[in-house]
Amino acid sequence: MNINQNYKNLNESYLFSTIAKKVNEFATANPDKEIIKLGIGDVTLPLCPAVIEAMHSAVDEMGKKETFKGYGPEQGYDFLKTSIRNYYQNRNVTLALDEIFISDGAKSDLGNILDLFDKDNTVLIPDPVYPVYVDTNIMANRKIFYINANEENDFLPVPDCEERCDLIYICSPNNPTGAVYNREQLSAWVDYANKNGAIILFDAAYESFISDENLPRSIYEIDGAKQCAIEFCSFSKTAGFTGTRCGYTVVPKELVFDNMSLNKMWLRRQTTKFNGVPYIVQKGAAAVFTDKGQKQIQENLNYYKQNAKVIADTLDRLNIKYTGGKNSPYIWLKCPNNLNSWDFFDLLLTKAGVVGTPGAGFGKNGEKYFRLTSFNTLEKTKEAMERFEKLFG
Ligand code: MLT
Repeated sequence: MNINQNYKNLNESYLFSTIAKKVNEFATANPDKEIIKLGIGDVTLPLCPAVIEAMHSAVDEMGKKETFKGYGPEQGYDFLKTSIRNYYQNRNVTLALDEIFISDGAKSDLGNILDLFDKDNTVLIPDPVYPVYVDTNIMANRKIFYINANEENDFLPVPDCEERCDLIYICSPNNPTGAVYNREQLSAWVDYANKNGAIILFDAAYESFISDENLPRSIYEIDGAKQCAIEFCSFSKTAGFTGTRCGYTVVPKELVFDNMSLNKMWLRRQTTKFNGVPYIVQKGAAAVFTDKGQKQIQENLNYYKQNAKVIADTLDRLNIKYTGGKNSPYIWLKCPNNLNSWDFFDLLLTKAGVVGTPGAGFGKNGEKYFRLTSFNTLEKTKEAMERFEKLFG
């Protein structure tokens, strides 16, 4: 029996598990210290009332013989797909219902989508990056090329790669840097992909944090994108579904390679390996798109944006450089005193009891950087930044 030896090439544990372990060890050794977590991008506000109401009534339906549901369609119920289609249509992106696939979140789909592609495909990944893109390709032993995202290009690299890559990962608003591509920059990627017969895997998980109307929230706002891009999105950060689990992936029918339709392949993959998202959860997700739901989630998004401003204002006062925080829940800062990111992590944890994410966990270009999230409560964010200011002021 041969096992997948590629796992030997992964870091011993997933970035956020490593951090959780370190924080738990510190908490056990220092039970009197109050730790404030601005590390993993996990939300703190509860599901909004519109979602809860919809889920309660779905629970009642499940309890009655006449309305009980067993297996649903693996690719999601039409009521939710219709709401998503209308959401895209508001931005003049027309999708067919069968181009939308409901799942338990963007992370699973970003990993699972690789089932559709040959192991010999090459991959282009910006550095720094959400570690899932890298790790899932290491597991399959694909050749990975990196493109630098750094201060020189405002953490928004555009194609400059000599190599012809088959799969290109783009996350905008970006995790971890919070930087957002404008239309022109995204068009450059779409043109590059179309010219090279490559596929863009576009992670739009943070699209709802974009306040600037001029910035694209979907890659399909760019001409030619349906010929080269798959888009992943999620209710996790938009509507507080990190623990509830629901997301969606758009696979346009235009994506045909070697006479094979990626849309049909993804449907085949999902119907074979996935039994769909619970009805109750999909009902809750659909409520996000009602007028009431949209208003309520916007209040939550504004709350997190206010936190981001607290963080940004502190960094401004301390003269610490950063990106993000305006159209993104993440703030990516340059470590003070030229510290390495893991040293900075230790310092901030031990001296201030504040947890963030070391930039090195996202790639070599993150070595001197650090990520803070705006997902904690306002009170705790203020307290964390007061401690931060005391330490570095
Ligand atoms: C993060 O902190 O980068 C995210 O919470 C990870 C994720 O969404 O899986």
